[in-house]
Amino acid sequence: MALRTVKDFDFKNKKVLVRVDFNVPLKDGVITDDTRIRAALPTLEYIRAQEGSKLILMSHLGRPKGEKKPEFSLAPVAAYLAELTGWKVIMATDVIGDEVKAAADKLEKGEVLVLENTRYYAGETKNDEELSKNIASLGDIFVNDAFGTAHRAHSSTEGVSKFLPSCAGFLIEKECKFFDSILENPKKPFVAVIGGAKVSSKIGVLESLLPKCTTLVIGGGMAYTFLKVQGHSIGKSLFEEEYVETAKNLLAAAEKAGVEIILPEDHVVASEFSENAVAEAVDSIDIPEGKIAMDIGPLTTAKIKDRIAAASSLVWNGPLGVFEFEAFAKGTLKVAEYVADCPGTTVVGGGDSVAAVNKFGYADRIDHVSTGGGASLEFLEGKILPGIAALRD
Ligand code: 3PG
Repeated sequence: MALRTVKDFDFKNKKVLVRVDFNVPLKDGVITDDTRIRAALPTLEYIRAQEGSKLILMSHLGRPKGEKKPEFSLAPVAAYLAELTGWKVIMATDVIGDEVKAAADKLEKGEVLVLENTRYYAGETKNDEELSKNIASLGDIFVNDAFGTAHRAHSSTEGVSKFLPSCAGFLIEKECKFFDSILENPKKPFVAVIGGAKVSSKIGVLESLLPKCTTLVIGGGMAYTFLKVQGHSIGKSLFEEEYVETAKNLLAAAEKAGVEIILPEDHVVASEFSENAVAEAVDSIDIPEGKIAMDIGPLTTAKIKDRIAAASSLVWNGPLGVFEFEAFAKGTLKVAEYVADCPGTTVVGGGDSVAAVNKFGYADRIDHVSTGGGASLEFLEGKILPGIAALRD
């Protein structure tokens, strides 16, 4: 079903309510990563360029759980937006209410009003109809560009769309375009690299991608449940007993479908899970007793390099090792480099793999680096994201 976008609407002289995902990391009131703010700018600039339009922005920040806690205020984000763009940005005193309504009605053309944290109201996460209605009453048109929160059916993401003409911004449109290209008709060879600590959090993605891909690389802590299922010794590495059947079924399904599964064939291990642990190379699949796998080894890395270099499309979600610890970051770093060099269409989704490509400086050589963590995971699982479903015809 077609997505309604900002291109389908006329914003001239309109008050435009835009849901952005300004849930950015803050340290002592300072924004430490502004990717999500920058990612919203094309939509904001497009609307703002239309004669007489006025922008009213809303977002959540953290999880204040229905309480007006000042440490979760969006004020530092509003100040940052003003600095970044040079626009007149007014910080609202609340999300809804007479004062906010008056501020919205008083907006001059080109001015931007930033509402307070939508999660200051408990009704937000309950998708409360009354709250949705009240928020909707502030604007004439609703634009959702908060891809990172599109998997939440909340008042400001989904509820509002029931009360206003609504459409997607450029960011949501772009995220959908890339994820749809991966999920609907990926160009072959299609390589999926799925890492992360737990089978339990990635099984949905593995099951959804398996039938579509040529090669499925399973790395990170979750790979060890699969290796154990194959009869290998995994030492003290992560093992999820309750996922043994799931892992068996997935391996059997891959064999039946002719999908190549790549699991770690060599490893970097340690005696304890710690930043200062001594890294030891293990050049066999089996891991000595008492050792914990912390990263993939060079044999595995070389095999992954090969497949990525031949891929026409690729998706990467989740790190291949404990990349936060320098001694165990090499596998993930190498994969980031191979993804950047991949000749095919490359999509990176999920908080940790995005953090890795940013940390290693490869983000601008990847076709699409998603702004969503949970949202990109659910997209890859093939789930319907309520914030986006509401914007389709
Ligand atoms: C995110 O950072 O993943 C989104 O902003 C959603 O935040 P949430 O997990 O608190 O709903």
